[in-house]
Amino acid sequence: MTLDAVSIIAAKRDGAALSDEQIDYAVASYTAGDIAEEQMSALLMAIVWRGMTRREIARWTAAMIATGTRLDFSEIRRNGRRLTTVDKHSTGGVGDKITLPLGPLVASYGVAVPQLSGRGLGHTGGTLDKLESIAGWRADLTVEEMTRQLADVGAVVCAAGADLAPADRKIYALRDVTGTVESIPLIASSIMSKKIAEGTAALVLDVKVGSGAFMKNLDDAAELARTMVELGADAGVATTALLTDMNTPLGRTAGNALEVAESLEVLAGGGPDDVVELTMALAQEMLSSAGVSDVDPAENLRNGRAMDTWRAMIAGQGGDPYAALPVASDRDAVVASADGRVSRLDAMAVGRAAWLLGAGRAAPGHPVQAEAGVQWHVGLGDQVRAGDRLFTLHTQTPERFDTARAALVGAVEVSDVAVQVPQRILGRIT
Ligand code: URA
Repeated sequence: MTLDAVSIIAAKRDGAALSDEQIDYAVASYTAGDIAEEQMSALLMAIVWRGMTRREIARWTAAMIATGTRLDFSEIRRNGRRLTTVDKHSTGGVGDKITLPLGPLVASYGVAVPQLSGRGLGHTGGTLDKLESIAGWRADLTVEEMTRQLADVGAVVCAAGADLAPADRKIYALRDVTGTVESIPLIASSIMSKKIAEGTAALVLDVKVGSGAFMKNLDDAAELARTMVELGADAGVATTALLTDMNTPLGRTAGNALEVAESLEVLAGGGPDDVVELTMALAQEMLSSAGVSDVDPAENLRNGRAMDTWRAMIAGQGGDPYAALPVASDRDAVVASADGRVSRLDAMAVGRAAWLLGAGRAAPGHPVQAEAGVQWHVGLGDQVRAGDRLFTLHTQTPERFDTARAALVGAVEVSDVAVQVPQRILGRIT
């Protein structure tokens, strides 16, 4: 059978399952520049509409991995003992700073946590942008530096190199500008191609559900989680997933330095209840995937070992863990207009306001403000009075206050009836 882009597009458009050869050809040829942007755009849109079978998703994932290199951390050793590697991946949410306390916490139990992370685009923040608010910290490590830090410290957070699933990098950029991000086969294969290529032995997924997430309802989130867990299992990566709420933003801050400060509170044994609850649940999952059972992850927050590992992780990547974090030159308040209980705090609106204030970027490569972001002073169910402060806005560019305030109109709903606070952890998929 001859392979050509037009017949592959037409086959998917008409609802056929693509053969392994068609998938390999489409992914490899597009990455090499032999299939035109408009042809890949059409194929992606056909996939969004027609979906993919489990076999097609697995093959699409493998084809993306095959365009680059695979890392191998199976021989990381400390004092002669081989360390198990476990990573965590979140599908992205507002105020989701869990990676920051979680990596050092899990590593403090003798597990290696290699976290290849990304930068923020749109309303969700990027882990690398957050850590770059720490003086001197650098995200770009060589594989040798990463391996050394894993052996010495146990935790590393760095940028994924350009040769890790390069097909995904190119396809994701195209999806971003062609309205083809929201597809379970495409999201699952995109995330898992990078995680499988990264070479982790085990993986815990945090699949977000709600207004501030890709997946707006529980059924879609469960299907995405199941798809990724199966892809992981097929590739020999022990994968489990938690489904967690993202109608409401996590913690009390969204923005780079603001989220680092909140993570430090968690590492010091404090911090907002929901951030602590999710950090504990994910730590428990990661530790049991690594064969470390019968430990209470809260213990190493209390005794300071997780904080020691954080400091070693930051210093290992050139950062000063004791340096003061940058603080915004300008602040503004948003106050409640009525008395009542907070019945809604919209994650998407908060994420958008933080982005408008300068915490996120409008296009890849644009700079972000370390200082910018939103702090909220109320949580679901809290009683407020008219005039109480709901939000503090932080920025270096005060001319942005008006648009950020506009984004927050309607973000908080106040009601005079009792408010049922939903659970943060909604399910587990294995
Ligand atoms: N994150 C990814 O890496 N890929 C997607 O498709 C969506 C979120």
